Amino acid sequence: MTAFDDHTAFARAATVLSENDRGSYTVPTKGLYPFQWNWDSCLTALGQRHIDEGRAWTEIETLAAHQWPDGMIPHIVFHVYDDGYFPGPDVWNTGRPTPTSGITQPPVMGFVLRRLYEEAKDKVLAEEKARALIGAADSWHRWFYAARDPQGTGLVAILHPWESGRDNSVDWDEALARVPTDGVEPYQRRDTSHVDPSQRPHKAEYDRYLWLVQRFRGLGWDNAKLHDASPFQVVDPGFNAILIRSDEDIAALGEAFGMTGLAAAARARAAKARAAFDRLWSEEHGQYLCLDRTTDTLIESRTVGGFLPLFAGLGTPERQRALAARIAEWRGRTRFGIASHDPADPRFEPKRYWRGPAWLIVNYLVADGLARCGLAEAADAVHEDSLRLIAGGFAEYYDPVTGEGLGGGNFTWTAAMVAELVRKRAKAA
Ligand code: DGY
Repeated sequence: MTAFDDHTAFARAATVLSENDRGSYTVPTKGLYPFQWNWDSCLTALGQRHIDEGRAWTEIETLAAHQWPDGMIPHIVFHVYDDGYFPGPDVWNTGRPTPTSGITQPPVMGFVLRRLYEEAKDKVLAEEKARALIGAADSWHRWFYAARDPQGTGLVAILHPWESGRDNSVDWDEALARVPTDGVEPYQRRDTSHVDPSQRPHKAEYDRYLWLVQRFRGLGWDNAKLHDASPFQVVDPGFNAILIRSDEDIAALGEAFGMTGLAAAARARAAKARAAFDRLWSEEHGQYLCLDRTTDTLIESRTVGGFLPLFAGLGTPERQRALAARIAEWRGRTRFGIASHDPADPRFEPKRYWRGPAWLIVNYLVADGLARCGLAEAADAVHEDSLRLIAGGFAEYYDPVTGEGLGGGNFTWTAAMVAELVRKRAKAA
């Protein structure tokens, strides 16, 4: 049973999208996140297209317009002044014409470009826009393998927990604990004035987030230096799976557009990453885990990031079925899926940012993966959970045990996912 009938759910989603629309970009939510966030924007376009395809393309164009000369697309674009958010542009000090942060986020853009293009009603517009944007995704992906995999292992590392998109996951605890806190400039958090502190990261984590920012800023945000200088280098299976999927999606677009060089290079990157991916499988835990690059060991933390390889169809059919069974097991332990951390682990916190709560965007990516792996029933069950969760409002995330909406309210990407799921269901009916 879903929370609202589909018509009401879509109308409410459209209202949230419109309230957070700033014309050429959409804020994730008023107050807590008052600028443009990278993967939020790309996933938002998936919902916006059901209302206005042109507006969906604009969302990505605006983000791509702030790509750095080296190819990186930053995690935040500070289009306006707003001191309700910390750390703001003065802390990052990246020297960009429009201020941006200096780190990146999961590269869902390639995947979204293909989906927008292939399912577009306005084919002429879609081809014009996709042709114009594919180069941005391609140079971003090239940047990843040059700057975040300098040894050429085939897998990229994140250098800051915020790059993962799963900011406060238990996955980062061990590596983050090795980041020092000396010399962190005094600061005042803003997130805890918008959201109950029990749903946000602790100060010990914030100190380390800030230490890393200061370290990278001290290196002039020179991406040729950041990787080796960072005490935090983690290879996240979720992040790498997204990059592989996006590379294969831009390859498919490139082939459709006759861009054979671009397509072949993207396929070669993805093939190399696929070959290296086995390193992240843990037989003991029956899922993929993060790899700490500084110690070359797998991190003992079972999270939803370990299910995301399904999104790129990685692993043998046997492994894919094992992951689906594990997802069903987690869903069985909570009322709603998918928890972001194993509910059977003592470190599971159902209300704290990425340490247990369920997120509609992650559900969407995992379900897309389950479906492409031929596990349609498992995918449908995850979609049903997503639509049931909105009884708790269009929240940033949800307690998977109680279904309570948590974090920021009237959240853009939650609304975008609802619009997408409702339309998907209508199409299938
Ligand atoms: C935060 O939590 O403020 C991060 O910027 C999210 O990306």
